[in-house]
Amino acid sequence: MQAQGEAKKTTLTITDNRTGKSYEVPIENDTIRAIDLRQIKVNPDDFGMMTYDPAFMNTASCKSKITFIDGDKGILRYRGYPIEQLAEKCSYLEVAYLLLYGELPNKTQLADWSTHITTHTFVHENMKKLMDGFHHDAHPMGMFIGGLAALSTFYPSAKHIEDKKERELTFYRLIGKAPTLSAYAYRHSIGMPYVHPDNELSYAANFLSMMFRIAEPKYKPHPALEKALDVLFILHADHEQNCSANAMRGVGSSHVDPYSAAAAAAAALYGPLHGGANEAVLRMLDEIGSKDKIPAFIKEVKEGKGRLMGFGHRIYKNYDPRASIIKKLADQVFEVTGRNPKLDIALELERIALQDDYFVKRKLYPNVDFYSGLIYQAMKFPVDLFPVLFAIGRMSGWLAQWAEMLDDADQKIARPRQVYLGYVTRDVPAMNQRG
Ligand code: ACO
Repeated sequence: MQAQGEAKKTTLTITDNRTGKSYEVPIENDTIRAIDLRQIKVNPDDFGMMTYDPAFMNTASCKSKITFIDGDKGILRYRGYPIEQLAEKCSYLEVAYLLLYGELPNKTQLADWSTHITTHTFVHENMKKLMDGFHHDAHPMGMFIGGLAALSTFYPSAKHIEDKKERELTFYRLIGKAPTLSAYAYRHSIGMPYVHPDNELSYAANFLSMMFRIAEPKYKPHPALEKALDVLFILHADHEQNCSANAMRGVGSSHVDPYSAAAAAAAALYGPLHGGANEAVLRMLDEIGSKDKIPAFIKEVKEGKGRLMGFGHRIYKNYDPRASIIKKLADQVFEVTGRNPKLDIALELERIALQDDYFVKRKLYPNVDFYSGLIYQAMKFPVDLFPVLFAIGRMSGWLAQWAEMLDDADQKIARPRQVYLGYVTRDVPAMNQRG
């Protein structure tokens, strides 16, 4: 126990049992710097101690002021604001501004910001030719990633990443054009003409217009669907150091232009372990087919024959707060679209799983993907487009993470170490001596 008057030591003492030597390293924010371990050596010419941490299970790669998650309590906050309040009281563009600039915009700032985004939704006509070049059944996420990378060739001055004006232009362009690229990818896949952005519509409504407008002189989505999509963008906007944010930071740390870094982040999101799980939930619900088949399905999951998709999370060991919001949102959407019949299966699955010892013991709760796919499907988005919808919302988070990384004096080009376990050295044998 700490004696009265004695200053609390914020250091960690490590004893190396190989040598009997002790080292004292400073603790800051409950972490030690891995580089402080380098002094721990058996011989003076040793490289020094490192940590081994595949998948960054216990390594903070940065300091951040953007997003806070407490996975045990089911808390998610952007810049200190609870996700529940942001989803209820703000628009996606307000949240994007908050993530990028640290504060919610006032009325004038929001008007300016919305104008900037809206006037950057158009893409160069050559982007249409690029989209046309894809095969008719190309996956929209592949087209979206290709489109983002291509944008870097249209805006070469964006490589001046230290120029704050250029950076801001990139924010407008990437947030503005992400829905346009996504909708173009979809329209190409169904052989329909591309729909130009409509600058009089909100961010979400314009996206729905570019997706679904056919011959209407003016496309006006149902306000409940427009609001639901906007909330889904908010819920997906950032999630601290996830796989795609880490890709954005890692690739951006080479000081490549932000369009190329965003393409890399989108590629990370494409993977089924990251942005593709909501699609897997729908396929699972289809496979189950009816409520009476649920007990047999749960039994198989418990026997290790597959997973309950949309359940469990690396960070959340409680109900994912985004899943609670989406569950409520689903009711509002289904009032307009009609009930997605898979919802009954999903609700029953959740009810049974949350009472089952297997799931309770492992703290497996519904995550953001459990209900989002049902809403997307009810709104007529094809399953292939789900990761693209995720990417539209996440664009503001990627940009916020990227800008924070560039302004952080601690950051350098990302370059992990390895534990080399291969041959020490050997001579190259002649061809006739190789096995
Ligand atoms: N269904 C059944 N069992 C599960 C599930 C699940 N969905 N998730 C975890 N488990 C079990 C594991 O089998 C393991 O059991 P064991 O201790 O008996 O071996 C235990 O729970 C811990 O699982 P891990 O795989 O170690 O947990 P991890 O944190 O590595 O995985 C993950 C998290 C990938 C999300 C996992 O829960 C999963 O595969 N869920 C289904 C896919 C999914 O919904 N992904 C979306 C995540 S949200 C997002 O990325 C936006």
